[in-house]
Amino acid sequence: MKLQADFPILNQPLIYLDSGASSLKPAVVIDSMQEYYQEYGVNIHRGVYKMAYRATEAFEHAREVVASFIHAPAKEVVFTRGTSASLNLVAQSVGATLQAGDEIIVSQLEHHSGLLPWQEVAKRTKAKLVFVPLTKEGRITTENVRSVLTDKTKIIALTHGSNVMGYLTPIKDIADLVQGKDVIISLDAAQTAPMKLVDVTALGCDFISFGAHKMCGPSGVGVLWGKFDRLQAMAPVEFGGEMNDGVDLYDSTYKDAPYKFETGTMPIAEVIGFAKAVEYLSPFDHIQETERTLVQSAIDQLNALDGVSVYNTNPDYGIVTFNIDGLHPHDTASYLDEYHIAVRAGHHCCQPLMKWLGVDATVRATFYIYNEESDVTALVDAVKAARDFFGQF
Ligand SMILES: Cc1ncc(COP(=O)(O)O)c(C=O)c1O
Repeated sequence: MKLQADFPILNQPLIYLDSGASSLKPAVVIDSMQEYYQEYGVNIHRGVYKMAYRATEAFEHAREVVASFIHAPAKEVVFTRGTSASLNLVAQSVGATLQAGDEIIVSQLEHHSGLLPWQEVAKRTKAKLVFVPLTKEGRITTENVRSVLTDKTKIIALTHGSNVMGYLTPIKDIADLVQGKDVIISLDAAQTAPMKLVDVTALGCDFISFGAHKMCGPSGVGVLWGKFDRLQAMAPVEFGGEMNDGVDLYDSTYKDAPYKFETGTMPIAEVIGFAKAVEYLSPFDHIQETERTLVQSAIDQLNALDGVSVYNTNPDYGIVTFNIDGLHPHDTASYLDEYHIAVRAGHHCCQPLMKWLGVDATVRATFYIYNEESDVTALVDAVKAARDFFGQF
């Protein structure tokens, strides 16, 4: 399917292989946000004039659209600033209930946004962080989670999909392991929501966090999904306008979830754009498989090049992580940029994983719905050219 025409940014020479950081935005998403600002760009949940009702209806309709995308009721969808904000909300609120000696299972695959909030909780409560051992390949397995599960485990906070290795976590099996136990599972789905792999009825988790900007939507908005009783039991961590039910001098009452977590003016245009992105993605089937086909082709060709090391030879979706031997990844990425190829270079907000891999940084190419085999060819040719160019010095 030729999708380039849907994405105005592709009207220029660009081979975009950095969707793992942020995807491109189709015109329908951009237009929906512009329409809001031009036609009814006022605040929500407050005004009693018609335009304010229109804005409120668009916002609440967006909640329903995003909820149905993950098979959840709308009341379980909290809009946040993004994945990081959602993960922090769970850690700050649920984490505050932990006690010294309680255990939080995390992994070395986590994005910093999945790890640091729990590090803070551990420091404050004296709960203990426990790392799931990774397999030789770098994967989280159910068996390895079982090996660190104890009576003290209170939280399992894992990524659903690694943003460096392209590995999926067998989260349903892990959830089955702790079924009936007093253990809360918080899932980081930043990389998997864009592939439509988030079905809250199938994953068995308590909380799931993801953002719009990696799935054709705008930046500045994301979702915390939580089971309704879990959300109701959680204390808000931000206080102020609109999240309250009634305010007195010394005390106040708060609304039910999800509203008690949505303090102040929300990113209204972004929420509306998010819903459009979800609608845009709805006809796409098998995004994961399509990505995997492209990335496997890239990996096979990169592996065949002398002087190139690939760190994830068997990913589940469209991420390849590699280095040209002896070359700093920033040099590789800058060289590729001369060919209008956009890739990410660095630690990918995963410094503990870089340690595990034994490197400071890598080059990462990520594939999404608008990429094609010709992009793989361009990447491989440019990597070869970079290797040969820098190899002369
Ligand atoms: C796995 C993972 N978790 C969390 C994040 C943080 O997402 P955001 O920057 O949207 O808050 C990212 C983004 O790179 C990610 O890939």
